Amino acid sequence: LPSLMAPPAELLSPIHIPQHLLMGPGPTNVSERVAKACGNQIIGHMHKECFKIMDEIKAGLRYAFQTENSWTLAVSGPSHLGMEAVLVNLLEPGDKVLIGVNGLWGNRAMDLANRLGAKPIALRQELGKSFSLSKIERGLSKHRPKVLFLVHSESSTGVMQNLIGVGDLCRKYKVLLVVDAVASLVGVPFFMDDWKVDAVYTGTQKAIGAPPGICPVSFGRRAVKVIETRKTPIKSYMLDMNILTIQWGCHVNLPRIYHHTPAVNLLFALREALAEVVEEGLENLWKRHAQASARLRAGLLAMGMKLFVEDEKDRLLTVTTIVIPDGIEWRKVTQYVMDTYNMEISGGLGPSVGKVFRIGTLGVNATPEKVDLALQAFKEGLEFARLKARL
Ligand code: GLV
Repeated sequence: LPSLMAPPAELLSPIHIPQHLLMGPGPTNVSERVAKACGNQIIGHMHKECFKIMDEIKAGLRYAFQTENSWTLAVSGPSHLGMEAVLVNLLEPGDKVLIGVNGLWGNRAMDLANRLGAKPIALRQELGKSFSLSKIERGLSKHRPKVLFLVHSESSTGVMQNLIGVGDLCRKYKVLLVVDAVASLVGVPFFMDDWKVDAVYTGTQKAIGAPPGICPVSFGRRAVKVIETRKTPIKSYMLDMNILTIQWGCHVNLPRIYHHTPAVNLLFALREALAEVVEEGLENLWKRHAQASARLRAGLLAMGMKLFVEDEKDRLLTVTTIVIPDGIEWRKVTQYVMDTYNMEISGGLGPSVGKVFRIGTLGVNATPEKVDLALQAFKEGLEFARLKARL
C-alpha cells in the first residue's frame, strides 16, 4: 500500500458552532423543539415509523399550502431544488415558459429553463416592483406559453407578487401557473387551490422555521396530468415525481417503493416545524409576521432610512429591503452587526448587491424583541460605517 496522507489536524479539535441570531433573509433560527428533533438517532427511511412521519409532513404541507393536492411532499435538497423539481417535471424541450424576472430568482428560472432545452421568455419588471395583472395578461396573450413562472416572494429585492387573479388568467389562456413561494409561505397568506396555482415550492429555512436542505413542493391535478402525459422522459431521476411520489405514499393504491435515501433527520425537523405551524395556526403566523415587519419598517423610517420597495402593496412582509445610504460601505455595517451582536443581517443578492440591505423577520425571529435588537444593531452598524467613511 502507498503511504497514508497525514490525518487532518483540524478534525482532532472540537467542532465550533457559534450562536448567531439570523436576521437575514434566511435561513432563520429554529426553535429548541425543532433543533432537538433534528438531533435524534437515525431511523430507516423505509421503516413504517418514517412513513408515518412523512404522512404527517404531507398533512402539514397541505395545510401550509392550503391545498388538497395528493402530490404534496418534500424533495431532498435546498429550495433551489424545488425550482428544478417543478420545471424539470413540467417542461419538455421546445416548451415555451414565460418567466417573471424582477430579481435573482426569475433569472435563475431563465437559466434553468434554457438548460432543459425549453424556450424561456422573460417578462421583465424593474427591481423593487411586482407585475400587474394587465402586464401578465399581455405576456400570456402575446406569447401563449405552456407555463407561467412567477416568484411570490422575491427575497433578493423584498418584493411580493400578488397572485389573486393570476390563476384565472392562466386558465383563460390554458397555461400552467408555477410559483416560487420560498420566502413567503406561512409568513404571509397563500392559498394554492383558491388561487389556482398548479405547482409550487417553498423554503423550510424561512418562515416555516426548519433547517435548510429539504424542500416542500406541491403539484395540482392539471400539473400531474401534464407530467403523466409527457412525450419525453423527465431529465432527472432524483426529481422524477412519477417515482418519488410513490416513495412518499401519494398514490392510494401503490405500495411505497425505494427511490432514494432522504435525510431522515431533516424529516424529523420539518415534521416538528410543521407541528408548530399547525399549533400556532396560519392566521396567527401571518399576523405575527405582519406585526414584526411593520415594527421593523417603522423603526427604519424613524432612523431616516429609505425602503427599497416604494409601493406598500408590493412589500414582502418577511424580508425587508433598505436602500443603502450614499457613502456607506454596506459590508462595514453587516460586519459590525456580526462582530458586535453575533447577528446576521444581509446585503443584496444578485442584481440587488450594492443596492440594498436585507433584514428578515422569519419564523421564531418574527418577534418585537428580535426586531428591536436588529434595529439597534443596524443603527450602530450605520454609525460605525459613517465614522469609518469620515476617517
Ligand atoms: C436566499 O434565499 C436569499 O434570499 O438570500
